[in-house]
Amino acid sequence: MSNTTSDKPPIGVIGAGWVGLVTATCFAELGHEVVVREIVQDKVDVLSRGDLTIHEPDLPELLRKNLDHMTFTTDMGELLDRTRLMFVCVDTPPTYSGDADLSRVQTVVSEVGDSTEHALIMKSTVPVGTGSAIRRDKHDLAYVSCPEFLKEGTAVADFMHPDRVVIGADNRAEFPGSWAGDAVEAIYRPLGGEMVRTDIASAEMIKLASNAFLATKISFINEIANVCEEVGADVTEVAKGMGLDERIGSKFLHAGIGYGGSCFPKDVTALKQLAGNSGYHFQLLNAVIEVNELQKRRVIGKLKKHLGDNLVGKKIALLGLSFKPHTDDMREASSLVLSSRLRGEGAEVSAFDPVASERAAELLPGVMIKDNPLAALEGADAAVIVTEWPEFAELDLAAVRSTMATPLIIDGRNLLDGAAVAAAGFVYEGVGRPALGGDAEPTAVAASAAAE
Ligand code: UGA
Repeated sequence: MSNTTSDKPPIGVIGAGWVGLVTATCFAELGHEVVVREIVQDKVDVLSRGDLTIHEPDLPELLRKNLDHMTFTTDMGELLDRTRLMFVCVDTPPTYSGDADLSRVQTVVSEVGDSTEHALIMKSTVPVGTGSAIRRDKHDLAYVSCPEFLKEGTAVADFMHPDRVVIGADNRAEFPGSWAGDAVEAIYRPLGGEMVRTDIASAEMIKLASNAFLATKISFINEIANVCEEVGADVTEVAKGMGLDERIGSKFLHAGIGYGGSCFPKDVTALKQLAGNSGYHFQLLNAVIEVNELQKRRVIGKLKKHLGDNLVGKKIALLGLSFKPHTDDMREASSLVLSSRLRGEGAEVSAFDPVASERAAELLPGVMIKDNPLAALEGADAAVIVTEWPEFAELDLAAVRSTMATPLIIDGRNLLDGAAVAAAGFVYEGVGRPALGGDAEPTAVAASAAAE
């Protein structure tokens, strides 16, 4: 074991992906010595120098600040020698069947061997039943399910101020590994979130059910938005009015062009599969997934409404490519589906993203990626706001107007002030809001708002 000078126990982290890096760096910030095991030597070298391979606000500063008590290594033996509490943060990507691929988790479990001195704390999102399957083989393994609820882009703040910390563990006094749940609670206690102590399967389910519920909320408001477009209501007003009911809450009621990222699409499908594999048909989740897929494509209909049915040769500029702002993560980003659909329609697609351009270039063949918004908008027949980067709300509308061929903005995230955009000479169409400007026929709601 390590001779840390701190009274806090040393912590091991397995996997230096996004979850692992945030977890490791934040534990180091809390004063723990942290040993990170990562199998890719290049990543170990880069991180050991204090450099990061992902874009996450506040993380670079925190990493450099705490580098003196963080070790990055490819050697699992070093982790086992120096730490008892080992947080598993390896990825669990979906397989062709929609189930989670647990091969990396299984490798870690086999590497720990029959040690009863160590605890494996599962941060990776795994199907319900994974913990009990692991413990069927290793009866004495101290195993804790401690799912993570961090959001990309605000992960450091989320870690430091958790709403709750879920700790699923076997606490029976006769179980040799029963110490682990308390040990995990002790290291999270300084952060002040509510501690949810429960069994392993329930902790695993809390994670999947939370993500599935949030995704359901988004698909729900997206469907309300689509109906608003038909009946002349404004979804932003509707969401505000709904969200004031404490039972509903205002968060995750932003209509848009669909959820993406590495978690919601994967976890909703994983929960649907898990239910199906155990004989239950989770109907609601089928609808959540389908609504989300269709939502990404609705932009095409809006473009055709204004530019005509034939998009061949039309120049469409995409503003924002990452699945949400403040990250360069392109996984399951709506831009992927949208740009392929546009290319399929024969459109010429240009794009700009403040941080995801490099990653996007590999994933979006045929899309002309530009290094500033105006360059992407030059000669465009329409601009589509795909990701709500705050800087797009600051664009000089006069400059945008003079560089575009047709003044049409489709705001896929309801980022802009539609009235101001229309006043600057554009046709503006958001999601679930009345179209404004140009020949757009104002709906009853828009007309009454304008009259006030
Ligand atoms: C999500 C959860 O919010 C985290 O609690 C969880 O830890 C994480 O997944 C995970 O399982 O690892 P994340 O994927 O980083 O976090 O991003 P969110 O901020 O939740 O956004 C997900 C997607 O939903 C984005 O595409 C976003 O644009 C979309 N969204 C979000 C909406 O379309 N409307 C909303 O109102 C909120």
